[in-house]
Amino acid sequence: MRRHDNDAWTALSTHSFSLSSGPDPAMQLIDQLASSPRRWVWQARRVSLNPRSQYETESNLRARQRFWESQRPRFDFFGWALGLADLRDSQDGLVLDVGCGNGAYLTELTSLGHRAAGIDLSFGMLSAARSAGQPLVNADVARLPFSNESFATVLAPHMLYHVEDRPTAARELRRVLRPGGTCVVVTNGREHMGALRKLIEEAVRTETPDWEMRNPSTHVFSLENGAEVLRQAFADVSLVVPEDPPTVVLTDGQIAADYVASIADHYQHQTDLPWADVVEHVRRRVEETIGEEGEFRVSGVSGAFVCR
Ligand SMILES: C[S@@+](CC[C@H](N)C(=O)[O-])C[C@H]1O[C@@H](n2cnc3c(N)ncnc32)[C@H](O)[C@@H]1O
Repeated sequence: MRRHDNDAWTALSTHSFSLSSGPDPAMQLIDQLASSPRRWVWQARRVSLNPRSQYETESNLRARQRFWESQRPRFDFFGWALGLADLRDSQDGLVLDVGCGNGAYLTELTSLGHRAAGIDLSFGMLSAARSAGQPLVNADVARLPFSNESFATVLAPHMLYHVEDRPTAARELRRVLRPGGTCVVVTNGREHMGALRKLIEEAVRTETPDWEMRNPSTHVFSLENGAEVLRQAFADVSLVVPEDPPTVVLTDGQIAADYVASIADHYQHQTDLPWADVVEHVRRRVEETIGEEGEFRVSGVSGAFVCR
């Protein structure tokens, strides 16, 4: 938590909002949050980002977003995931975006005319999400500052794999969801970005034989194993994957290098090879393929659990 950011936030827990009174506490809260120029912090207990430095600012996430912007053909994954939430059927369109990051989903929700709130553990991310124009709260998914059954739709996109106590987080997502509402939880599959992972492993294994890249989104909470924890909280959990999975087509090795640099703090402690060497190896190998074949292709395997 960066002090200069923290100073700009007001403690939700000490403010006079009542989160549990009135006919629609969530709507009241959103109204109050939205009409105030202040931003809100709800930290009943201190929780650290995991890994600590990964999301202090949006820069690592932006490097990965830039990578996905090289998809051919372009696939609107955010729109696809929102489409799973039956937003048109929700009475008031009130959506909670949990782990909202720099606001990609909030921006899409704003453009679709929905009212939403974003929560994230990182002040840096929330600062970047301000341009989406929706109210923001600094909070932990494992302790959401909203009363029961507050939201018609709850999103948890690409974030549960960073959370240590996932059963508690899943129960919190369920608790704040209205009866009949939909929670959409996005993550990746085991084969996600196999072509890039192969090059990273090739580099690290020059120093650390047999090293395997165990990405949190492909191993800790993935399309293959994520349903188990969600079923502890939700009666109905179904997995949906896009018909045409997105493929990134690179003609610039630096975009792959920037992606690999952005994940250093996940892996550097697992090898003595400086991560900068891994980055350089990947950049060189991607450029070689581009030189020989005109492009370097990476397939994404992402999907969503639709939970009710
Ligand atoms: C991979 S980013 C995804 C951001 C956004 N959902 C998206 O898909 O573009 C993961 C986000 O989850 C946030 N996060 C991690 N642990 C969290 C927690 N315990 N509670 C709330 N947010 C958390 C991080 O700060 C980061 O912004």
